[in-house]
Amino acid sequence: MANVLFIKANGLPAERSVSVKLYEEFLKNYKASNAADTITELDLFQADLPYYDATMMSGLFKESTGDTLTDEEQRLADIANGYLEQFLAADKVVMAFPLWNFSIPAQFLTYLFYLNQAGKTFKYTAEGPVGLVTGKEVVLLNARGGVYSDGPMASWEMSLNYVKNILAHFGITNPQSIIVEGHNATPDQAQDLIAAGVEKAAELAAKF
Ligand SMILES: Cc1cc2nc3c(=O)[nH]c(=O)nc-3n(C[C@H](O)[C@H](O)[C@H](O)COP(=O)(O)O)c2cc1C
Repeated sequence: MANVLFIKANGLPAERSVSVKLYEEFLKNYKASNAADTITELDLFQADLPYYDATMMSGLFKESTGDTLTDEEQRLADIANGYLEQFLAADKVVMAFPLWNFSIPAQFLTYLFYLNQAGKTFKYTAEGPVGLVTGKEVVLLNARGGVYSDGPMASWEMSLNYVKNILAHFGITNPQSIIVEGHNATPDQAQDLIAAGVEKAAELAAKF
């Protein structure tokens, strides 16, 4: 029985969002194949995600050094640590997110900042940072209207690449990905491109 965390980083309904379509299809099929698992859904557009500001940073730093936190520092550190503990407790994680302005939504960035804590998800060594997260399986579900898998825009892809690099920084080097791309660039093919991605999501969910 696995503990599975489903993270949705898009506030649009499935009818208007390709990444949410992938998310919902994956979730439905995962549940059908794994009825005994514990599934937690985290909707980042509904969650309490205060910016990673100076007070939160100060609180997290003081916790790491054993100093006394102010009430506000404690409140903010507890929020970040709550999401971090939830992430660390999951055996499997599914993250669905769009490419927006070549990057990820601000809510997702804030969330990933919470997870990025020295001594918890990675450690510093003389040879550089080393990831501390082991034994977790991850699936990434990503949608991007243009084509970035090859061609002139490849180096502009800072959505899936960013998330993959952050996960690698944590030690998670083998996430599986489903990408729908090019549906805005070639609208005549959009329906087929999206349908193919949704089918892949269903297939992967059944064996994840
Ligand atoms: C705010 C916003 C910014 C976007 N920026 C880009 C972009 O930089 N490059 C691109 O190819 N498509 C861009 N798009 C199109 C999205 O990548 C496309 O709609 C994709 O399906 C997003 O996932 P979603 O459908 O789950 O929202 C943007 C869309 C929105 C709403």
